[in-house]
Amino acid sequence: MKYKRILLKLSGEALMGNKSFGIDNDRLAEYAVQIKDAVSTGCEIAIVIGGGNIFRGIQAEKGGMDRVQGDYMGMLATVINSMALQSALENIGVYTRLQSAIKMEQICEPFIRRKAVRHLEKGRVVIFGAGSGNPYFTTDTAAVLRAIEIEADVILKGTRVDGIYTADPEKDKTATKYETITFSEVYEKGLEVMDMTAFTLCKENNLKTIVFDMNKTGNLKRILEGEKLGTLVTV
Ligand code: GTP
Repeated sequence: MKYKRILLKLSGEALMGNKSFGIDNDRLAEYAVQIKDAVSTGCEIAIVIGGGNIFRGIQAEKGGMDRVQGDYMGMLATVINSMALQSALENIGVYTRLQSAIKMEQICEPFIRRKAVRHLEKGRVVIFGAGSGNPYFTTDTAAVLRAIEIEADVILKGTRVDGIYTADPEKDKTATKYETITFSEVYEKGLEVMDMTAFTLCKENNLKTIVFDMNKTGNLKRILEGEKLGTLVTV
Protein backbone atom coordinates (compact mmCIF):
# COMPACT_ATOMS: atom_id res chain seq x y z
CA MET A 1 0.00 0.00 0.00
CA LYS A 2 1.40 3.35 -1.01
CA TYR A 3 -0.29 5.49 1.62
CA LYS A 4 -1.22 4.61 5.19
CA ARG A 5 -3.48 7.58 5.84
CA ILE A 6 -4.97 10.05 3.40
CA LEU A 7 -7.16 13.10 3.46
CA LEU A 8 -9.67 13.16 0.64
CA LYS A 9 -10.95 16.61 -0.31
CA LEU A 10 -14.21 16.65 -2.24
CA SER A 11 -15.91 19.70 -3.64
CA GLY A 12 -19.48 20.45 -2.75
CA GLU A 13 -20.25 21.25 -6.39
CA ALA A 14 -19.26 17.72 -7.39
CA LEU A 15 -22.15 16.38 -5.31
CA MET A 16 -24.60 18.22 -7.58
CA GLY A 17 -23.93 15.80 -10.42
CA ASN A 18 -25.97 17.16 -13.31
CA LYS A 19 -28.27 19.13 -11.07
CA SER A 20 -27.87 22.89 -10.60
CA PHE A 21 -28.26 22.86 -6.83
CA GLY A 22 -28.09 20.51 -3.88
CA ILE A 23 -27.20 16.85 -3.80
CA ASP A 24 -27.52 14.30 -6.57
CA ASN A 25 -28.24 10.97 -4.90
CA ASP A 26 -26.65 8.91 -7.66
CA ARG A 27 -23.42 10.87 -7.49
CA LEU A 28 -23.42 10.62 -3.70
CA ALA A 29 -23.93 6.86 -3.82
CA GLU A 30 -21.20 6.51 -6.42
CA TYR A 31 -18.72 8.43 -4.29
CA ALA A 32 -19.66 6.27 -1.31
CA VAL A 33 -18.87 3.08 -3.26
CA GLN A 34 -15.52 4.49 -4.35
CA ILE A 35 -14.70 5.36 -0.76
CA LYS A 36 -15.77 1.90 0.40
CA ASP A 37 -13.44 0.32 -2.16
CA ALA A 38 -10.67 2.60 -0.99
CA VAL A 39 -11.24 1.59 2.63
CA SER A 40 -10.95 -2.06 1.57
CA THR A 41 -7.30 -1.46 0.64
CA GLY A 42 -6.60 -0.91 4.34
CA CYS A 43 -5.85 2.78 3.94
CA GLU A 44 -7.10 5.13 6.64
CA ILE A 45 -9.35 7.78 5.17
CA ALA A 46 -10.42 11.20 6.41
CA ILE A 47 -12.63 13.43 4.31
CA VAL A 48 -13.29 17.14 4.03
CA ILE A 49 -16.11 18.22 1.76
CA GLY A 50 -17.02 21.69 0.55
CA GLY A 51 -20.44 23.28 0.58
CA GLY A 52 -20.67 25.21 -2.69
CA ASN A 53 -23.58 23.12 -3.97
CA ILE A 54 -25.69 24.63 -1.21
CA PHE A 55 -24.18 27.95 -0.27
CA ARG A 56 -21.16 30.04 -1.19
CA GLY A 57 -20.04 32.71 1.25
CA ILE A 58 -18.13 34.76 -1.33
CA GLN A 59 -21.08 35.05 -3.70
CA ALA A 60 -23.37 35.98 -0.84
CA GLU A 61 -20.99 38.85 -0.06
CA LYS A 62 -21.28 40.07 -3.64
CA GLY A 63 -25.03 40.13 -3.12
CA GLY A 64 -24.57 42.42 -0.13
CA MET A 65 -24.42 39.93 2.71
CA ASP A 66 -21.91 40.30 5.50
CA ARG A 67 -18.87 38.16 4.64
CA VAL A 68 -18.57 36.54 8.04
CA GLN A 69 -22.26 35.66 8.10
CA GLY A 70 -21.95 34.17 4.61
CA ASP A 71 -18.89 32.14 5.57
CA TYR A 72 -20.65 30.64 8.58
CA MET A 73 -23.61 29.73 6.39
CA GLY A 74 -21.15 28.04 4.04
CA MET A 75 -19.71 26.08 6.94
CA LEU A 76 -23.18 24.85 7.83
CA ALA A 77 -23.59 23.78 4.20
CA THR A 78 -20.51 21.58 4.55
CA VAL A 79 -22.09 19.89 7.55
CA ILE A 80 -25.18 19.09 5.47
CA ASN A 81 -22.97 17.53 2.78
CA SER A 82 -20.95 15.67 5.40
CA MET A 83 -24.14 14.23 6.90
CA ALA A 84 -25.32 13.14 3.46
CA LEU A 85 -22.00 11.44 2.77
CA GLN A 86 -21.98 9.80 6.18
CA SER A 87 -25.44 8.45 5.54
CA ALA A 88 -24.50 7.15 2.07
CA LEU A 89 -21.42 5.41 3.49
CA GLU A 90 -23.34 3.82 6.35
CA ASN A 91 -25.98 2.59 3.90
CA ILE A 92 -23.33 0.38 2.34
CA GLY A 93 -21.76 -0.74 5.59
CA VAL A 94 -18.84 1.65 6.00
CA TYR A 95 -18.11 2.70 9.58
CA THR A 96 -17.91 6.47 9.86
CA ARG A 97 -17.61 9.26 12.38
CA LEU A 98 -18.51 12.87 11.69
CA GLN A 99 -16.70 15.63 13.56
CA SER A 100 -17.57 19.28 13.24
CA ALA A 101 -15.39 22.34 13.80
CA ILE A 102 -18.50 24.12 15.08
CA LYS A 103 -20.12 22.32 17.97
CA MET A 104 -23.50 20.81 17.24
CA GLU A 105 -23.66 17.97 19.72
CA GLN A 106 -27.04 16.67 18.64
CA ILE A 107 -25.75 15.96 15.16
CA CYS A 108 -22.08 15.07 15.36
CA GLU A 109 -18.99 14.89 17.51
CA PRO A 110 -16.95 18.03 18.07
CA PHE A 111 -13.59 18.06 16.36
CA ILE A 112 -11.08 16.44 18.71
CA ARG A 113 -7.85 15.57 16.98
CA ARG A 114 -6.87 12.66 19.19
CA LYS A 115 -10.32 11.11 18.88
CA ALA A 116 -10.24 11.52 15.12
CA VAL A 117 -6.91 9.70 14.95
CA ARG A 118 -8.27 6.90 17.16
CA HIS A 119 -11.28 6.50 14.86
CA LEU A 120 -8.95 6.28 11.87
CA GLU A 121 -6.81 3.67 13.59
CA LYS A 122 -9.97 1.64 14.13
CA GLY A 123 -10.69 1.73 10.39
CA ARG A 124 -13.48 4.28 10.51
CA VAL A 125 -13.83 6.91 7.85
CA VAL A 126 -13.71 10.29 9.59
CA ILE A 127 -15.53 13.19 7.96
CA PHE A 128 -14.61 16.68 9.11
CA GLY A 129 -17.48 19.16 8.79
CA ALA A 130 -17.76 22.96 9.14
CA GLY A 131 -14.40 23.67 7.54
CA SER A 132 -11.92 25.07 10.02
CA GLY A 133 -14.71 26.76 11.98
CA ASN A 134 -13.41 30.19 10.99
CA PRO A 135 -14.61 32.71 8.46
CA TYR A 136 -12.21 33.88 5.70
CA PHE A 137 -10.86 30.37 5.21
CA THR A 138 -11.78 27.93 2.48
CA THR A 139 -12.53 24.23 2.82
CA ASP A 140 -9.27 23.62 0.95
CA THR A 141 -7.44 25.30 3.81
CA ALA A 142 -9.47 23.29 6.30
CA ALA A 143 -8.56 20.12 4.42
CA VAL A 144 -4.85 20.92 4.58
CA LEU A 145 -5.07 21.87 8.25
CA ARG A 146 -6.82 18.62 9.17
CA ALA A 147 -4.43 16.61 7.01
CA ILE A 148 -1.48 18.07 8.90
CA GLU A 149 -3.16 17.54 12.26
CA ILE A 150 -3.90 13.86 11.63
CA GLU A 151 -0.51 13.38 9.94
CA ALA A 152 -1.94 12.25 6.64
CA ASP A 153 0.61 11.12 4.05
CA VAL A 154 -1.05 13.02 1.23
CA ILE A 155 -4.07 15.09 0.28
CA LEU A 156 -6.11 13.70 -2.57
CA LYS A 157 -8.09 16.49 -4.14
CA GLY A 158 -10.91 14.98 -6.15
CA THR A 159 -12.05 17.26 -8.97
CA ARG A 160 -13.77 16.84 -12.31
CA VAL A 161 -10.56 17.25 -14.29
CA ASP A 162 -7.80 14.67 -14.20
CA GLY A 163 -5.04 16.91 -12.92
CA ILE A 164 -3.44 20.33 -13.27
CA TYR A 165 -3.16 21.71 -16.80
CA THR A 166 -1.14 24.51 -18.36
CA ALA A 167 -4.49 26.27 -18.93
CA ASP A 168 -8.14 25.46 -18.24
CA PRO A 169 -8.69 22.30 -20.34
CA GLU A 170 -12.41 23.03 -20.54
CA LYS A 171 -11.64 26.32 -22.32
CA ASP A 172 -8.28 25.76 -24.03
CA LYS A 173 -7.93 22.61 -26.16
CA THR A 174 -4.13 22.98 -26.41
CA ALA A 175 -3.70 22.75 -22.65
CA THR A 176 -1.43 19.95 -21.47
CA LYS A 177 -1.34 18.15 -18.14
CA TYR A 178 1.48 18.22 -15.60
CA GLU A 179 2.49 14.83 -14.21
CA THR A 180 4.22 16.59 -11.33
CA ILE A 181 4.64 20.22 -10.41
CA THR A 182 5.97 22.09 -7.38
CA PHE A 183 3.98 24.47 -5.22
CA SER A 184 6.28 27.31 -6.33
CA GLU A 185 5.60 26.57 -10.00
CA VAL A 186 1.86 26.54 -9.39
CA TYR A 187 2.23 29.92 -7.73
CA GLU A 188 4.51 31.42 -10.39
CA LYS A 189 2.29 30.26 -13.23
CA GLY A 190 -0.83 31.46 -11.45
CA LEU A 191 -2.57 28.10 -11.83
CA GLU A 192 -5.79 27.80 -9.93
CA VAL A 193 -5.53 24.69 -7.81
CA MET A 194 -6.08 25.72 -4.22
CA ASP A 195 -6.07 29.10 -2.54
CA MET A 196 -2.76 30.47 -1.34
CA THR A 197 -3.41 29.90 2.36
CA ALA A 198 -3.96 26.20 1.69
CA PHE A 199 -0.90 26.03 -0.52
CA THR A 200 1.35 27.78 1.94
CA LEU A 201 0.29 25.36 4.65
CA CYS A 202 1.08 22.42 2.36
CA LYS A 203 4.44 23.87 1.46
CA GLU A 204 5.52 24.70 4.98
CA ASN A 205 4.52 21.27 6.22
CA ASN A 206 5.87 19.32 3.28
CA LEU A 207 2.48 17.84 2.48
CA LYS A 208 2.02 16.45 -1.02
CA THR A 209 -1.22 16.90 -2.91
CA ILE A 210 -2.57 14.83 -5.77
CA VAL A 211 -5.21 16.44 -7.95
CA PHE A 212 -7.25 13.76 -9.72
CA ASP A 213 -10.58 13.04 -11.41
CA MET A 214 -12.89 11.69 -8.72
CA ASN A 215 -15.75 11.31 -11.17
CA LYS A 216 -14.05 8.41 -12.91
CA THR A 217 -15.05 5.34 -10.95
CA GLY A 218 -12.13 3.45 -9.45
CA ASN A 219 -9.62 6.30 -9.61
CA LEU A 220 -9.43 6.75 -5.85
CA LYS A 221 -8.57 3.10 -5.25
CA ARG A 222 -6.09 3.08 -8.12
CA ILE A 223 -4.16 5.96 -6.55
CA LEU A 224 -4.08 4.18 -3.20
CA GLU A 225 -2.72 1.11 -4.96
CA GLY A 226 0.15 3.19 -6.27
CA GLU A 227 -0.96 4.08 -9.78
CA LYS A 228 0.25 7.47 -10.96
CA LEU A 229 -2.94 9.33 -11.78
CA GLY A 230 -3.65 13.05 -11.91
CA THR A 231 -0.99 15.59 -11.00
CA LEU A 232 1.30 15.31 -8.00
CA VAL A 233 2.13 18.64 -6.37
CA THR A 234 5.31 18.55 -4.31
CA VAL A 235 7.34 21.04 -2.30
P1 GTP B 1 -14.58 4.33 20.73
O1 GTP B 1 -15.51 3.85 21.77
O2 GTP B 1 -13.43 5.10 21.26
O3 GTP B 1 -14.17 3.25 19.80
O4 GTP B 1 -15.33 5.40 19.79
P2 GTP B 1 -16.87 5.59 19.56
O5 GTP B 1 -17.01 6.71 18.59
O6 GTP B 1 -17.55 4.34 19.18
O7 GTP B 1 -17.37 6.00 21.00
P3 GTP B 1 -18.32 7.08 21.51
O8 GTP B 1 -18.98 6.46 22.67
O9 GTP B 1 -17.55 8.35 21.68
O10 GTP B 1 -19.36 7.35 20.33
C1 GTP B 1 -20.44 6.49 20.07
C2 GTP B 1 -21.31 7.18 19.03
O11 GTP B 1 -21.72 8.44 19.51
C3 GTP B 1 -20.58 7.44 17.71
O12 GTP B 1 -21.51 7.29 16.64
C4 GTP B 1 -20.18 8.89 17.82
O13 GTP B 1 -20.05 9.53 16.58
C5 GTP B 1 -21.32 9.46 18.62
N1 GTP B 1 -20.91 10.62 19.38
C6 GTP B 1 -19.86 10.75 20.23
N2 GTP B 1 -19.79 11.99 20.72
C7 GTP B 1 -20.84 12.67 20.19
C8 GTP B 1 -21.33 14.01 20.30
O14 GTP B 1 -20.79 14.87 21.00
N3 GTP B 1 -22.46 14.31 19.58
C9 GTP B 1 -23.06 13.41 18.77
N4 GTP B 1 -24.14 13.78 18.08
N5 GTP B 1 -22.64 12.16 18.65
C10 GTP B 1 -21.55 11.79 19.34
